[in-house]
Amino acid sequence: MTPLGREIRELIAAEGPIPVSRYMALCLGHPQHGYYMTRDPIGLAGDFVTAPEISQMFGELVGLWAAQAWIDLGRPSPFALVELGPGRGTLMADALRAAKVAPGFLEAAAVHLVETSPVLRERQRATLAAPPATLSGGVHWHAQLDAVPDLPLIALANEFFDALPVRQMVRDRGTWRERLVGLDAAGALAFGLAPDADPSITWQAPEGAVLELAAAGAAVMGALAGRIVAAGGAALAIDYGHARTGFADTLQAIRRHAFADPLVDPGEADVTAHVDFAQLAAAARGAGARVFGPATQGAFLRALGIEARARALASRASATQSEEIGAALVRLTGDRDADMGVLFKALAVAHPRLSACAGFIEDEGPC
Ligand SMILES: C[S@@+](CC[C@H](N)C(=O)[O-])C[C@H]1O[C@@H](n2cnc3c(N)ncnc32)[C@H](O)[C@@H]1O
Repeated sequence: MTPLGREIRELIAAEGPIPVSRYMALCLGHPQHGYYMTRDPIGLAGDFVTAPEISQMFGELVGLWAAQAWIDLGRPSPFALVELGPGRGTLMADALRAAKVAPGFLEAAAVHLVETSPVLRERQRATLAAPPATLSGGVHWHAQLDAVPDLPLIALANEFFDALPVRQMVRDRGTWRERLVGLDAAGALAFGLAPDADPSITWQAPEGAVLELAAAGAAVMGALAGRIVAAGGAALAIDYGHARTGFADTLQAIRRHAFADPLVDPGEADVTAHVDFAQLAAAARGAGARVFGPATQGAFLRALGIEARARALASRASATQSEEIGAALVRLTGDRDADMGVLFKALAVAHPRLSACAGFIEDEGPC
């Protein structure tokens, strides 16, 4: 049994079953034993690989997106270039290198990384030890978005929102009851339902349907959008998830590149839920921001020019490197059902005066 598993069992024995959202928050963020507090899980030797680690093209195109948004916003100076959940810092390093093409962008920027993991902060410090000399504002770390200075901001978040806790509601005999984590007769962690129904949820759905409520994600998106509306800016969120709210249990655990049981060995696996982009978009609109997308990751990266970038890189590469660039392009943009290019979506949120947003086809509804 993991130390966190022991602690959660003791908690449930003392206080009763806990909501899935609290379980998820403990698994990922427990101050001593939380998954992100104790390791760098990214990469082949870890548990999963993210898009910036697949190819430099991903971060470069996101950097160009940020530079274009900055130009479209009227080149605010100074501004905060924010990344939520920056992992190893690879996306930011690639983005800063690419954004040099926009004169004045780096000179106006200060990088603000919002990161809770001490291990990954160290990794980011190493990756970003020598940022481009023209980056005038330096690199700063914060535990939460609200500590980022009050400036116009351009925010990036890749595979961040999926790590925020969701509540799960289960349709049960015409009512909605919250899914809880409790203990079975043998003392092992087990799912159950709250004894009382929640009358505040009015969605109609078939018996057994699961509705995921992304209150934590919506709160962060609402706060981002509020700042963007007040001070100017734009934000880009990329994650695996669905464009419309549906009824599915998407809670999952990943360990060593394979699915695991989310209730086994808490703290040792990445426990996430698919991002409901409709709920994020509603939170942003509720704060007065303009929303672009979601578009599939494949469509978004193609619109930003990933195919041309792959050709340019391949033209200067060895045969083996060229093959790797081609494979990364397919991996990031593939459009079969289980491909990243389709499973992952991109959503942009901007100040209402921004009438168009790079990577998103105007007036196209959600993918
Ligand atoms: C799946 S990793 C993605 C990393 C990176 N964006 C990438 O694409 O490689 C999730 C990141 O979010 C961070 N994170 C998780 N929960 C967080 C929270 N509540 N606040 C800030 N960062 C968080 C993790 O430490 C990690 O850096």
